[in-house]
Amino acid sequence: MERIACFILLVTYFVVQSNGLTEANYYTSPMNKIYYIEPQNKYNWFGSLTECTRMNMSIITVDSAEKTKDLNDVINTNFKDVEKPLLYIGGSDMADNGKYVWHSTGNEFVYTNWAEYEPNNFEDDEHCVHIGLYNDGTWNDVKCSLKLGFICEVNKNEPQ
Ligand SMILES: *[C@@H]1O[C@H](CO)[C@@H](O)[C@H](O)[C@H]1NC(C)=O
Repeated sequence: MERIACFILLVTYFVVQSNGLTEANYYTSPMNKIYYIEPQNKYNWFGSLTECTRMNMSIITVDSAEKTKDLNDVINTNFKDVEKPLLYIGGSDMADNGKYVWHSTGNEFVYTNWAEYEPNNFEDDEHCVHIGLYNDGTWNDVKCSLKLGFICEVNKNEPQ
């Protein structure tokens, strides 16, 4: 029995490796949500969507103060003594300038956590939302082609 468990673990490890996904990037939050955090600046916003989908997850929707707190707790605990990673979240106004929506729900922003003077749509070319620029977890808008990290969450219709 133990041997079988060991074998399954090993197989899982190699499957995860061959997908290019890293087991260590999964975090369980205080609210018992599972987040995948890619901390390296390797993906534009659309690449981030693709990566989350490839993991059977969705780019994160942060539509309440409770969710902000939950996410901040995970980041502050796991990226304590390092520079905060720059991470895409699932908001964009690419489709309709000025109308920010959450990619995974299709809902327009109601709750927001913008940093002061944001979103500024700098040079009329910033349509995707990320965190990490400001230490308090508030949001900034950037060019969607900029390569950053990202956060995925378990799809809302799937059990956690
Ligand atoms: C995603 O789901 C599919 C279909 O159930 C499965 O084959 C695949 O291994 C899953 N991928 C990950 C990374 O969990």
